[in-house]
Formats: sequence, structure tokens, C-alpha cells
Amino acid sequence: MKLPASSLLTAAFLLGQAKAGWTNESEVPFYGLSPPVYPTLQGSGSTSPTWTLAYKRAREFVSQLTLEEKVNMTNGFTGVCVGNSGSVPRLGFKGLCFEDAPAGIRGPDFVSAFPAGMHLGQTWDKKLMRAYGKALGEEYHGKGVNVALGPVGGGIGRVTRAGRNWEGPGPDPYLTGEQMEAIVLGVQGEGVIACSKHWLLNEQEYRRLPSALGESMSSNVDDATIHELYAWPFMNALRAGTGAIMCSYQRANNSYSCQNSKLLNGLLKTELGFEGFVVSDWAAQQSGISTANAGLDIVMPNAGWWGKNLTQAVNNGSVSIDRLDDMVTRTLASYFFLDQNTTLPSPQIFSPTVQHPILDVRGDHDKLIREIGSAGHILVKNTNNTLPLKKPRYVSIFGFDAEVKPVPWTNPLRYGGGYEVNFGWETFNGTLIVGGGSGSNTPSYIISPFKAIQDRVIADRGVLRWDFYSQDPVPEANTEVALVFINAYASESFDRTSLSDEFSDTLVLNVASKHPNTVVILHSAGPRVVDAWIEHENITAVIFAGLPGQESGHALVDVLYGDVNPSGKLIHTIAKRDEDYGNVLNSTVDQSAFPQSDFTEGVYIDYRAFDRDGIEPRFSFGYGLSYTSFEYSGINIAQTTGAHTSAYPSSDVSVVQGGHPELWDVLFNVTASITNVGKVAGAEAAQLYLGIPTAPIRQLRGFDKVFLKPNETATVAFALTRRDLSIWDVVAQQWKLQSAVYNVSVGASSRDLRLNSILSV
Ligand code: NOJ
Repeated sequence: MKLPASSLLTAAFLLGQAKAGWTNESEVPFYGLSPPVYPTLQGSGSTSPTWTLAYKRAREFVSQLTLEEKVNMTNGFTGVCVGNSGSVPRLGFKGLCFEDAPAGIRGPDFVSAFPAGMHLGQTWDKKLMRAYGKALGEEYHGKGVNVALGPVGGGIGRVTRAGRNWEGPGPDPYLTGEQMEAIVLGVQGEGVIACSKHWLLNEQEYRRLPSALGESMSSNVDDATIHELYAWPFMNALRAGTGAIMCSYQRANNSYSCQNSKLLNGLLKTELGFEGFVVSDWAAQQSGISTANAGLDIVMPNAGWWGKNLTQAVNNGSVSIDRLDDMVTRTLASYFFLDQNTTLPSPQIFSPTVQHPILDVRGDHDKLIREIGSAGHILVKNTNNTLPLKKPRYVSIFGFDAEVKPVPWTNPLRYGGGYEVNFGWETFNGTLIVGGGSGSNTPSYIISPFKAIQDRVIADRGVLRWDFYSQDPVPEANTEVALVFINAYASESFDRTSLSDEFSDTLVLNVASKHPNTVVILHSAGPRVVDAWIEHENITAVIFAGLPGQESGHALVDVLYGDVNPSGKLIHTIAKRDEDYGNVLNSTVDQSAFPQSDFTEGVYIDYRAFDRDGIEPRFSFGYGLSYTSFEYSGINIAQTTGAHTSAYPSSDVSVVQGGHPELWDVLFNVTASITNVGKVAGAEAAQLYLGIPTAPIRQLRGFDKVFLKPNETATVAFALTRRDLSIWDVVAQQWKLQSAVYNVSVGASSRDLRLNSILSV
């Protein structure tokens, strides 16, 4: 068993663990199994009037059920949806239909393929995040889906090369929290239960499940880090009312997440007041009684360890009837919370292999997808204003990422592939619009970059040349601009082995060696290093084009030709070399029967680690160029009247869903002015970084995006809550506000801080 390096760190780690109730020291001296039964908090329905009403209806319903009917409701069955829970036909309850997932309903036809969560994050636009959730909710509702298996806020992206980092908005908990909150509100506003996932600490794919080698990986994390980094975004999702939470595959501090009483009964249901139900990730249940008593409410996709065993466990007292009633009450409470008994149509999810009626739920979401698509494109290099393109008459396109795959999808349910690696490199053999696995989507069509650029060239009465497959293509003599497309693929089920690939880097260098105006467009499922070519003088512009969904080509052309001024910003630090990400570059490889992954870096991932270690990134977190320039001025910090700045939230106030209500009190309002000093209109995502004493030197604690015409000025505003200013106190087991001076900076990226000030608590 590996131990944290320094004994000091070990001591602090263990103190934190013990205070937090993670350890059962008589059994496990260092890493704790959570206690087998942590006090179970029954859903109370007391945290808001809507939950109270939902609980009243749920309890009435449950009082009519037999033991077998209750047990039947707690597990999954094969059916039309990716998950189908048990029904009670005699009382008109049809069971719940669960569908993936975060970037569009995966599987059926006549649905939209939305940009991935990472791409949405790159917009830094809360309005677009909310609109995305609403549009998703409309589609789920239209198809009769009760539970949407998103948004994703975990894995948050601790491991730079982890396979699923693109499903959510990246390694900053504040940004991820804002996005989760907006999506939950949007989805649930349409009457669909959002299932925020994965709770918690599923930060890598390698050994996420038990295998012939032994148990799954254990993510070993101290209590403060869990609060300040990994649970943080879920607090926002809970506050927004998320009706479901999915527990994750791997072990957390050596106890499987779906039987981790500290995580489920403790943190989620007691400390954060969760009123809805916990569903297991698919086949994540590893025991029967322990999962029931630890707080799991529904198992998927089948009966798992429950079914008749659960009936027996209740009959012999191993699981109390109260616990079973609580499982079913929580499930029905979420269902009634969103009035699904009256508003939701029956699920209509058809197999693509049989003829079926058309049910088109796309509305005009293509427009929103295009808008999010362009807003999430990040311009990182633009020498001599190469972009926007000025109606070139002779355009050349290179690289297989410019066009859709020439062959049918391997898996008809997933454009993004089912765990495939193409060409022997971690690239996708076709234009990449989403990553692979369950977070992939099912586009009804794809506007490829090639299609959209060709339409534009036709309109400009130009000439287009292309070569998708050569690694050493030759631009024709008259070519004005050579557009090179590359991608970096990632998927559920495996972690990446590199943040670049030789095939693509060589392609870029070959074109650049032959053409003085080479523009690189890069679709990537996670961070991608570019130092093999970024400084090449013939590479005049570079766009990180993310994972933009079905309108990919349109969104790109909007930015390339200047119809939309780029405003996307990085949600990851882009390092000069893979190794600069330090100990979190790779997933932990441990071949032992009880593999351990120690998160010894605490909250120091991504820019927090680069800042601490003084490592110069290639492009910093929050960075992105525009076709105009912005000036920042006039930072103002005002303490709110009546703000209580005692060290801890009041002890006599009860928890609401999302935690202690005072954590959301605004203590300070910060404003600044942004002026567009360039010649074209554009949007700027201003960012607020806070230097909390005893914490990383700076952490994102606000962002605000404004659209400005030339010479126009607008105010950006950031509300700092008690939580934003607090650290987790492992001894007091509460968020603590320190009486101290805090540095406040507002800027264009984490390394481009334009305005600096302080506030005192
Ligand atoms: C496993 C994935 O981890 C989860 O995110 C997904 O929702 C389920 N499979 C269902 O497909």
C-alpha cells in the first residue's frame, strides 16, 4: 500500500479522514472504509414547499404498496430505454425511463447532437448553459424520458489523460458547478429529472470496475479536497434541485461508491440535504445489504444484488422496512416533484433496426447548437490578423477531421464511437463532434467542416481543393489558405496515452513547410498539446474547435469568416509538454488486487498546480483571443449590508438541498467595466479569481460574459458567496470563513489579470 510522501501530509490526511468519519481505524489503519452503517437520513421533503408536496404525494402512494411492489420499484429491467425501473401497473405507475445522456439523447433518431459538456464550458456563458439544458429537456420530454443521465460534473478531470474529461466542463469546480446548476434548471424546467453524475471521484477509466485482477481502483481523497474540489459542483446541482444522483463505479477511500455510506448517507443525504434518489451507475452495485443500508435507492440496469434478496433482507431485518420505504419514497418524490404523473408522455424510444413512427423532437435546436458551437471555439493564435478570412478565392483543406467518416458508424447508437481508436492513433477517423462511449450522441445529420466551407467557397465563387488522407499533401500553387484539420479522440472505457499524436503533428508540419498561410483547426476530447508546431512561422492561426456537435461546420465557418467573433476560452491549461501536468498526467496503474490511487495533490490540479510550481503554460486556463480587444477598468468591491461574517454558518439553521443555506449568501459584490476598444463587435468572458488565505494563490470564483459593439462599455458583475470565500474546516466539519485579507483579481484569463484589489473579512 502506497502512502502519501511526507509524514506531515500523512498526518494531516489521516486527521482529516478521521474527523470526517472516513476511517474505521480498528479495521484499516490508513485508508478508511467508511463505517458500514452511517446514520441514514430519510428524505424529509422539508427543504422546500415543492419537495414537501412531492413527499406528501409520494408517501400516500407508498402507503398503498406491498413489499414485493416496493422491491420491484428499486431495480432495473430490460425495456426500451437504457434503464427501466419497476412499475406498479395497478396504480398507474409505469416505471421510470432513463436515457443517456449529457450531449443529446443517445440512441433514437430525430434527436439533436448537442455540443459536449466541455464545449459548452468553453463558451463561459451562463445563458447558453441554461438554454442548452432547456433544449435537452424539451427533447427528453418529447420522447417521454423520465430521467436524463446528466449533467456530468465528475470525473471533474483530475487526470489530464482520462478518457471522459470532455463530458463535463473541466477541472475547475466553480465553472463546473455553474454549468451543472444551469443545466439542471434547464432540464428540470421541462419536467425531466436530471441525474447529476458521477458521485463521486470516478477520475479515471483504468480499473474503474472490478476485474480478474481484483477490486476496482480506490480513489483516496482527504475530506477538505472532497469538499473544495470534487463535491463542490454537485452542491450547485443539488441547489438547483437535481432529482437524481448517479453513484459511480470505483471505490472511494476503499469502499465502493454505491455502498459508501459516508458518501451517500453522510455527505449527500445528510450534509447536503439531498431529497431525490440515488441510482447506481450501470452494473456498479457490488453488494446487496451494504448498498441498501449505505443509501443506494435504485440499482441499474437489472436487479443486481437486490430483487428477491432485498425482499428477504427486509423480512429478516438486515434492511429495515423504513429504508426500503425511503428508497421508494425518494424515487416517487422526484417523479411528483416534476409532475411526471400528469405531464410526461410514455417513452417512445425505437430501435434503429425496426421500422417505427417518426417522433421528431428537435424543434429549432439546430440554431442553439450552432450558436453554442461558435461560442465555444477558441482562437489561440492569429498572426497578422490572418483570421477572419477575407473571402479567399482559393482554399485547400487537409486532414480526415474535415469530413464525416466515409464508412457507417461502428455502433448505430453512437456517432462518437464505441470505445474505438482509429488509425492506430488516438484520433477519430472522421470529423470529431463528440467523444466516445455513453456520453456520445446520435446526430440526425452532421454539417462537416468540409460541407460548410465548400458552401462558403461556392458563394464566394472560389475554388476548393482537398485531401483528407495524405499525411504529406501538396497545396496547389494558387492556394491562399491551407486549412489543416486534426483531432484528439477520447472515450469512456479507456484513458489516453498521449496528449498529441504523431500522425497529426506530422501532417501539420508537412503542410506548414509548404504553405505560408497554414491555419490549424483542432477538435479534441480533452486537452491537446501543440508545441510540436505552434511556433512555426507559417502557422498563422490556430483554433481549438472543441466538440461542437452536429452543426460543427457551420459553427466553424461563422468564426473563420468573422460572422461570429470568437469568444471561447480554455477550460484546461494547455501545457508545453505532457509532463508539465505532473503526477496527475496519467491514470494510476496499479495491478494489485486492491489498487490504490492517492490524490495527494489535494486541490492542486490544472492551473492551481501550474501556479504553485511556477510552470509556464503554453496557453493558460481561461485564455482565448478575439478579433477585437477589450480594456478592463474600475474594479469596485462592496460588502453587502447585513452580511454576517462570523467564521461558521449559524448552527441553528437547517440544511436545504445543496447544503447549509447561508453558504449561498452573497457577502461581497464585485464589479468592473469592460470596453471594446477594437473595430468589430465581440463578446468577452471576464473572470474573477480569488486568493483565499491558506488556499491556492488564485481560484476562479466568478465569470461574466458581455457582448460589446466597438467603443461600447459594459459592467461585469460577480457575486461572492460565503462558500466562495470559505475553506472546509475538517475539525469543525463546516465551511469556514477566515478573518483575513483576500486578493481579488479580474482578468481575461488566469494569467492575464487586469485589475487587482483586496477585500477584508
Ligand atoms: C455507464 C456510464 O458510466 C454512465 O455515465 C452511463 O449513464 C451508463 N453507463 C448508462 O449508459
